[in-house]
Amino acid sequence: MMMLDVRNLSASYGKVRALFDCSLAIAQNEFIVLLGANGAGKTTLLRALSGTIRSSGEIAYMGSDLQKIAPERRLQNGVAQIPQGRGTFTEFTVDENLTLGATIVSDTRQVRQDKERWYDRFPRLRERRSQLAGNLSGGEQQMLALARALMSRPKLLLCDEPSLGLAPVITREIFAIFKELRDNDGLTLLVVEQNADLSLKFADRAYVIEAGHIVAGGSASTIRADELIQKSYLGD
Ligand SMILES: Nc1ncnc2c1ncn2[C@@H]1O[C@H](COP(=O)(O)OP(=O)(O)OP(=O)(O)O)[C@@H](O)[C@H]1O
Ligand SMILES: [Mg+2]
Repeated sequence: MMMLDVRNLSASYGKVRALFDCSLAIAQNEFIVLLGANGAGKTTLLRALSGTIRSSGEIAYMGSDLQKIAPERRLQNGVAQIPQGRGTFTEFTVDENLTLGATIVSDTRQVRQDKERWYDRFPRLRERRSQLAGNLSGGEQQMLALARALMSRPKLLLCDEPSLGLAPVITREIFAIFKELRDNDGLTLLVVEQNADLSLKFADRAYVIEAGHIVAGGSASTIRADELIQKSYLGD
């Protein structure tokens, strides 16, 4: 059984349709990238999954109908989203941002332990724990957004264009961390990206979206090797 099984997902902004019958599936502990150009519908698809926009179609998540789970309860059910632009609270400190990531966790000892765990993993965040998030570099803010999302102990992490505005070397570091979270922490990831070349080096499988339609899907190596897909949709 797939962890997430999306069938014929459609969504609109007013009269403008942005997703057309999109179908995709993610197994537990897979690392999937969703590739596509500007305006293809990547963010809209993530929003439909997190419930921040209305959609039609079926979203089966761990055997339940996700459409029936209210958006604010999806985090409690293990679905966390890191929005495009990161969504850290810039007027709060690094440490406060991590606390805010754990609002659904009532066990304060767990919160303390998880903070230590992610400070160990992201030493730059530990060094800057008392600084305002708004004063961090772009790369550090992306790490904070990731650590904050992890504080809720998600099962499925949705991440929207983590590479936006970051140097390639930092983007590579972030993708290496995603892969590590998949390998060592049992996380399942759906990451939206425009940088096909880099993300396909780390992900297991990929889907390609174009003008609201899923136009291709397959193993990362298959998508990388497919010249037609590269030329048609990925700007090579
Ligand atoms: N709030 C909105 N109101 C109206 N139309 C929107 C809105 N948000 C997105 N759209 C439209 O929906 C389509 C898909 O947009 P979406 O943001 O999902 O693309 P994207 O693939 O995430 O692009 P990018 O790589 O630039 O972030 C686009 O045509 C866009 O103009
Ligand atoms: Mg987007």
